[in-house]
Amino acid sequence: MSAVLAPLINSAAPDTLPARTVAVAAGDGIGPEITSAVLRVLAAADPALSFHHVTVGLKAYAAGEASGIGQDVLDAVARHGAILKGPITTPQGGGYKSVNVTLRKVLGLYANVRPSISYHPFITALQPGMDVVVIRENEEDTYAGIEHRQSDEVYQCLKLVSRPGCERICRYAFEYARAHGRRKVTCMTKSNIMKLTDGLFQRVFEETARDYPELVAEHMIIDIGTARMASRPAEFDVVVTLNLYGDILSDVAAEVSGSIGLAGSANIGRECAMFEAVHGSAPDIAGRDIANPSGMLQAAVMMLQHLGRERPAALIRNAWLRTLEEGILTADAYRPGPGRRQVGTQEFADAVIERLGQVPRRLAPVAEGQAVPEVRLQPPGSATPRSSKRLVGVDVFLDWDEAGRDPGVLGRRLEALAGPDFTLAVVTNRGVKVYPGGNARTLCTDHWRCRFQAQEAAGPTTIAALLLRLAEAGLDAVKTENLYEFDGQAGYSQAQGA
Ligand code: NAI
Repeated sequence: MSAVLAPLINSAAPDTLPARTVAVAAGDGIGPEITSAVLRVLAAADPALSFHHVTVGLKAYAAGEASGIGQDVLDAVARHGAILKGPITTPQGGGYKSVNVTLRKVLGLYANVRPSISYHPFITALQPGMDVVVIRENEEDTYAGIEHRQSDEVYQCLKLVSRPGCERICRYAFEYARAHGRRKVTCMTKSNIMKLTDGLFQRVFEETARDYPELVAEHMIIDIGTARMASRPAEFDVVVTLNLYGDILSDVAAEVSGSIGLAGSANIGRECAMFEAVHGSAPDIAGRDIANPSGMLQAAVMMLQHLGRERPAALIRNAWLRTLEEGILTADAYRPGPGRRQVGTQEFADAVIERLGQVPRRLAPVAEGQAVPEVRLQPPGSATPRSSKRLVGVDVFLDWDEAGRDPGVLGRRLEALAGPDFTLAVVTNRGVKVYPGGNARTLCTDHWRCRFQAQEAAGPTTIAALLLRLAEAGLDAVKTENLYEFDGQAGYSQAQGA
């Protein structure tokens, strides 16, 4: 045992920790067997931790819970502040809601934390030596689930990004880095294209970085960032990004680290948190005692760290690394070799329990770390300063499929209908300017964005009058977006090619 670790492991017995209860849901498929293996390790390392068992997933769906999770479970998670959750089998057919989405939304689990670590040479990895944590915003972006079909040809998904949402996730990423002894936080966005939404995320990241002068803060465009994650992951430490990018990036990171089957993830909220393996319920191998409990065990380690139970977290993590080093592995990760041993789910847990108190010889042991301090935010509405907001026009989206879709015909009709309160500034199709003097080569769909600039300060009544004129002319306005200036700055994007 290294000198650094000796005091940590031996100075205080884990059972001196205060009693604490967490909710546990075994889930479906291999869930029950990996959960029982993980709970045995937890009980050995942290006897003061107890478990409130709840039912989610297939049994809950069968009992008539459309979201696979009952209110009693949500109440239990809120009461205990944490749930360790096994994987859930998503039922086939419509009418079912995802347990994870429900948990995320109802409990406000805004941060998804996914470490990607390679365990080379004990586990094969495309990128040996990788150690990156992806922190993904969990509630906003295109995942708000607000989608509409607006014409025969065009569908939309709203990307919503809020200042409090960005502040919360960026601050969490810096707090996480500080608490876990990390040195750098990289923000990834596509702010060069989405200047308002992704631009806000980047701006808030840069503002937040000022409070953490000891940490390196950098911004990267998501496409090159993802490519670099696959080819040069050593350049990254903690990465924070928006929901959709984070979903993709965390899978790329896990894949090249070789540890996707061994990885745990945390979903953190203000008052509670959910911990689970990254993999699914593996129904193909359920009930055979061959599943690898490592992903859920890593999730359990993250849970202990989150609860401030650093000693049992370090005990388990180090014993698990030692088990990997000794070549004691379940079938999915096992490679034959001298001294190596293929074991079942429960025997793997036994091997980890036997090694509690031991540390790895070659892989990096866990020496220290503190729980991430709770991030306290101002209540929404009071934190963001109110600006002077002025309505300066309206974008009207039309479903229009006449005159061979000639933008000139539409533009001239709209100019005649715009007055007296508005002038027609531009018509775009799929964001590209097509009138006046637009790009003749772009593909024109049946969905037109028509920008009306107000002559004087516009108001709801002048917009309503404009919409009435359009409707009386037989034009189908499928949606409107008001154009505002905030403190004199345009709160809307310009047309491409304008
Ligand atoms: P999966 O991750 O369950 O399985 C993919 C492959 O990996 C299978 O060959 C499986 O046997 C293997 N595998 C997964 N975990 C393993 C483990 N611990 N030990 C050894 N081998 C393991 O993904 P799949 O098949 O796409 O999904 C199965 C079900 O799980 C679906 O209903 C899916 O919706 C659900 N799922 C649930 C998740 C969750 O609750 N967080 C996450 C991902 C999928």
